[in-house]
Amino acid sequence: MEIEVAPLTELPEGRGVRVETAGHRIALFRIGDDVYALGDRCSHAEASLAEGEVFDREVECPRHGAEFDLRTGRPLSLPATRPVPVYAAEVRDGVVYLTIDEEGDRS
Ligand code: FES
Repeated sequence: MEIEVAPLTELPEGRGVRVETAGHRIALFRIGDDVYALGDRCSHAEASLAEGEVFDREVECPRHGAEFDLRTGRPLSLPATRPVPVYAAEVRDGVVYLTIDEEGDRS
């Protein structure tokens, strides 16, 4: 299922935004013209990654500091050891779209 989110220019640069849609809680990150989308629950203890600090293409969990790769959802540092879900985000004609697999992980 594809969902139209917002014009790219409405997303803040270099920090997260939470989007709740179709039963999923998703953290969106705009880095320049690119947009990344992760499940918005840290795999360690469920803090909101949308509230974390963004460095390069990584986000640091605001609760205990685990870092996640925005491209893969994989943890890059402890205490998180499991990845978070990654959603396909695409920019077309200046508009951000998310693709949500209804059979996939709920976040
Ligand atoms: S809740 Fe994210 S590192 Fe603990």
